[in-house]
Amino acid sequence: MLEYKGIHYETNPKVYEPAEDTFLFAENLQIERKDRVLEIGTGTGLIAIIASKNCSTVIATDVNPHAIDCAVKNLIANKSYNVELRKGNLFEPIKNEKFDLVLFNTPYLPTDEDEMVGDELDTAWDGGSDGRKIIDQFLDDLKDHLTPNGRVQLVQSSLSDIDRTIKKLNEQGLNASVTARKKCFFEEIVVITGIPKSA
Ligand SMILES: C[S@@+](CC[C@H](N)C(=O)[O-])C[C@H]1O[C@@H](n2cnc3c(N)ncnc32)[C@H](O)[C@@H]1O
Repeated sequence: MLEYKGIHYETNPKVYEPAEDTFLFAENLQIERKDRVLEIGTGTGLIAIIASKNCSTVIATDVNPHAIDCAVKNLIANKSYNVELRKGNLFEPIKNEKFDLVLFNTPYLPTDEDEMVGDELDTAWDGGSDGRKIIDQFLDDLKDHLTPNGRVQLVQSSLSDIDRTIKKLNEQGLNASVTARKKCFFEEIVVITGIPKSA
């Protein structure tokens, strides 16, 4: 059993184990009590559990079925009864729903075919050759799932073109900036936050 600030959780070998990026995200979430939150790519569910303590409702998704199984256990263990889990790709399980805040610690690493481990764990970091495969798909559909004053927070690496993410968010009418950063061994991990331009 692992522990983060009083939250006890488990993982398994086919699920992303919370790491520096998760903890940077956890420490820099900008959640309001009234928010209905979507977390894409919940992994163990740790971010969803933290979010659920600070807002009304969380929908948490993952494309990896092992992550959903793992998150179910962790949500129950932490009595996070205001979190609903759904399995699927990006916004596919969300259909026409809109959220006040969308969170995603993305698979942001530039990855070649020969670097894959060959199971569901690849989804945790495989960002394709430029690291942006999933980030760009996410940004393309994001606006359809934000309420008029909706915000977004996502995590990525300096290896996957931070400026491009900020530009794409700005083009969608959001005011985007890096709100937290941490230097790691060969990269910098950042939290990017997009808020409505009127805010
Ligand atoms: C870097 S891990 C983050 C996990 C967890 N949120 C955390 O911070 O520890 C990325 C997560 O996104 C999930 N994921 C990757 N691509 C996805 C997609 N297209 N749709 C939904 N989830 C995805 C992975 O399975 C993985 O659990």
